[in-house]
Amino acid sequence: MPKRKATGDDKSQETRDTASKQSGELINNLNALSANDFQQQYLKPARLAPPTTEALEGPQVEISFKASGDLTKDELSQCLNLIASTSRQHYESSGWGWHPRRKTREMKEAEMRYLLVRSTVSTAPSGSEPVEEADIEGFLSFMLTHDSSPPVPVLYVYEVHLVPRLRKLGLGAHLMRVVEEVAKDAGVEKVMLTCFVCNERARKFYESRGYGKDVISPEDRRTRAKIVKADYVIMSREAA
Ligand SMILES: CC(C)(COP(=O)(O)OP(=O)(O)OC[C@H]1O[C@@H](n2cnc3c(N)ncnc32)[C@H](O)[C@@H]1OP(=O)(O)O)[C@@H](O)C(=O)NCCC(=O)NCCS
Repeated sequence: MPKRKATGDDKSQETRDTASKQSGELINNLNALSANDFQQQYLKPARLAPPTTEALEGPQVEISFKASGDLTKDELSQCLNLIASTSRQHYESSGWGWHPRRKTREMKEAEMRYLLVRSTVSTAPSGSEPVEEADIEGFLSFMLTHDSSPPVPVLYVYEVHLVPRLRKLGLGAHLMRVVEEVAKDAGVEKVMLTCFVCNERARKFYESRGYGKDVISPEDRRTRAKIVKADYVIMSREAA
């Protein structure tokens, strides 16, 4: 079959190809940055520093950055335990189920990056040996990737979890703000995330931060006998 001559449509296809090549390069270049270079460029200490509010004066936390490959075994298991303690029930009651090994594999994906929250005040009982590093009491993990429809460069927030004592102090909003600023500086189009429908509090939290249902979010399915409700919602907002 002879090759078709270039038409207007072919041109717009060409434009689309160039755009997708450029966005592919953007994500590849961002993911090729070492943890150090990424931090230097996008996560200067002033950006990571928790807000100095009265509410956060009590707990006194610090936020650090790590790429998945730099997490110690212990840090990885502390993060997994945190997910289990806050969301295991949500996983179990959804079609996803709770699969720690699968979750760990996802958490270790090469491009996954972490903001880790630790207390700056020792919680060890007085008189006991000083601990080297405080336990992780919260974290946000994210990846720079392509998603949505049509696929565009995005910053995808995989997890955001805080221990109960650190909730409702503005820390979750701060962690989201940090990655929203990274997304803007990195030049991606959207910030995306997945939320269980049953996790109403988290959904409200995201909505109040300007997130809405993304076009790729699954719809409820109508079968002959009933409507099968989607058990998760994919949310997004513009990065700018
Ligand atoms: C979801 C989560 C990360 C939000 O973090 P957070 O630190 O509690 O959130 P913030 O404090 O920034 O904001 C939460 C609410 O507290 C309010 N708040 C913020 N600062 C406050 C303060 N100083 N005093 C009282 N309330 C405050 C905010 O207005 C917000 O209210 P809203 O939800 O009605 O908008 C956290 O609650 C959490 O870890 N939940 C369990 C894990 C989870 O469900 N993760 C999401 C998976 S999809």
